[in-house]
Amino acid sequence: MDDKIKQIKRDGYLIIKNLLNEKEISNLKESFKKKYSLENNYHETDDNFVWEYLVNKKLLDLLKKILGNQIFYMHDIDLGQNLIKDDKRSWHRDNPCRSTGNGPDWDKNFPYNVLTSITYMSSSKETNSNLNIISKSHKTEYKYSISNILRLIHRKLLNTKYFTFFRTIIEKIIGKKIFYNVGDCIIFFANIYHMGNGVSKDNKDRKLIIARYGGPGKHSENFLNYNFKHRSDISNRYLKTLKKNEFFNHLKKNEIYIPLPEEKKEIKGVYSQKK
Ligand SMILES: [Fe+2]
Repeated sequence: MDDKIKQIKRDGYLIIKNLLNEKEISNLKESFKKKYSLENNYHETDDNFVWEYLVNKKLLDLLKKILGNQIFYMHDIDLGQNLIKDDKRSWHRDNPCRSTGNGPDWDKNFPYNVLTSITYMSSSKETNSNLNIISKSHKTEYKYSISNILRLIHRKLLNTKYFTFFRTIIEKIIGKKIFYNVGDCIIFFANIYHMGNGVSKDNKDRKLIIARYGGPGKHSENFLNYNFKHRSDISNRYLKTLKKNEFFNHLKKNEIYIPLPEEKKEIKGVYSQKK
């Protein structure tokens, strides 16, 4: 396990095989069914199976080893189910300050401490998908690397019909393809470059559970402020939930609760979706 902690600190990501047991998998399969049949009437934070998932002991123990004893749930969970229709995508980051070295996320004296966790509910094999991560791209030094130049070329080639071949080569050179089975979890620093990749076959949806956690301090505060005060798609997250108070009590009981921000705060270098 210590090797895994060293690996995430060095490379920015780690893989936990079989995070979920059979029972947990079958419970969460029910959650997916509910979400994608009830449509607008389903909310993750009203679902007890999701509550259980968010405080999964194996996951939280590992997160504490990476971030320290105090960890917070970033009020960010999504049960995602979709077909990957084409390969027109490039790497992105999940954090507020997405340009390397620009903004408080990149403070040399206070290493970034917000993590994305993705647990897969479908396998790479059945969906023809994988997660592609650029190792070490969560570090400020990445800015002037050859990998970053190749990444920019990859992005530039995105909207051209041609050059698919070059894009594939770049993906192989700078990215690391991670394959998964049902119940596997991949954890990475939210400021690392990553992308879901592959093209779905046989109309099989990729299913995944994305949740974010952070340690104490400005990175978690900025992440929450960014999600709830800068983004229109996430800020209303609790608007229609029925069990908000019970859910917050559940988080408090498990010592991962952090209050939501009250006021919008300007964040230097913040990513704007309008760009
Ligand atoms: Fe992402």
